[in-house]
Amino acid sequence: MKILILGGTRFVGRHLATEALLRGHELTLFNRGRSGPGLFPNAEHRRGDRDGGLDALAEGEWDACFDTSGQTPRQVEASTDLLAERVGHYGFISSASAYADRDRAPLSEDAPLASADSPDDLDRRVATTYGARKAACEEVVRKRFGARASILRPSLVAGPYDDSGRFDYWLRRALSGGELLAPGPAHDPVQLLDARDLATFALDLAEREIGGTYNVAGPADDVTFMGLVRGAVNAAGSAARVTWVDPGFLLERGAEPWTEIPLWIPEDGPRGLHGLDVSAARARGFAPRQVGETLRDTLVWIENSATEPVAGIGLDPQRERELLREWHRSQAMSRTLLAAGHEI
Ligand SMILES: NC(=O)c1ccc[n+]([C@@H]2O[C@H](COP(=O)([O-])OP(=O)(O)OC[C@H]3O[C@@H](n4cnc5c(N)ncnc54)[C@H](OP(=O)(O)O)[C@@H]3O)[C@@H](O)[C@H]2O)c1
Repeated sequence: MKILILGGTRFVGRHLATEALLRGHELTLFNRGRSGPGLFPNAEHRRGDRDGGLDALAEGEWDACFDTSGQTPRQVEASTDLLAERVGHYGFISSASAYADRDRAPLSEDAPLASADSPDDLDRRVATTYGARKAACEEVVRKRFGARASILRPSLVAGPYDDSGRFDYWLRRALSGGELLAPGPAHDPVQLLDARDLATFALDLAEREIGGTYNVAGPADDVTFMGLVRGAVNAAGSAARVTWVDPGFLLERGAEPWTEIPLWIPEDGPRGLHGLDVSAARARGFAPRQVGETLRDTLVWIENSATEPVAGIGLDPQRERELLREWHRSQAMSRTLLAAGHEI
């Protein structure tokens, strides 16, 4: 097949490009040439900007286009208008954040989508408009490509080349050893998706000319926070001791779910992000791998690349020590009061 990727050189798109080449497809990449320079010498490279610079795509036909970089409906309108007659299948990478109410789980594909307070918000590339922008992009793709469109809504995407720092925090933290703070309850479910499984499924749909909208999340095994943290400690071969800390205690001290304690979603947070119903994708053959494999391969990437932890993601080591000290003090106090016959 002839495949065009709008993007393709950072993380998800990079795995998609790798898989497309492995399958023997003819690949064209369109991007600004800033990320991953020198990648994929066997692909055709076209340079341009999704914001007003699509001239390099004025000619050419492709069996499938994957849009991994569409962030505003304006960008997606421009690319779909330009390509509708020259591309067979359009695969758009949306997000589980496109759902309006992410506080409930399970979330299936027919749940209402996020919308913007004002049309101007759909051009404002800030985190608070992300879900509404992705939902609006989806609408544009559906309108232009109909049954020739596949729209994928991933949960958190993990794996080698992930530059968000959220998943690999747990591996890096395990590597540092010592006492490791983990947020309770330990048995809360966690959903994440290996970027390679996303790439495989996106390509499978295009090759089989199957359209539709699908939640995509893994892993294959039912993972809890304990499974994730213990898996990271085991993968790192670490002697780190895990201490589970009450979520209320952490929230009272201003701990930031998802970012400061990566992947953590407390009870009144957007639990749908760890509760996507993926039965529709599974019925189409989506088969995510087990989390242990994602942990192992991400660890190899961390150890072999010069990547640093991402600023603002994960607990600062000193704050972690202070929280743990305070937690142990409060636990000791509770034990003393209970031993003295007090109700607490
Ligand atoms: N990470 C997660 O947990 C997660 C979860 C759910 C959904 N998603 C979605 O997954 C998608 C994949 O993101 P990714 O960054 O990994 O994809 P990617 O395709 O690997 O990287 C982004 C690509 O877009 C290009 N690009 C960025 N701005 C551009 C512009 N204005 N014009 C032309 N090219 C541009 C970049 O190259 P240049 O910089 O060289 O232009 C790069 O090749 C995103 O849409 C994201 O919303 C991610």
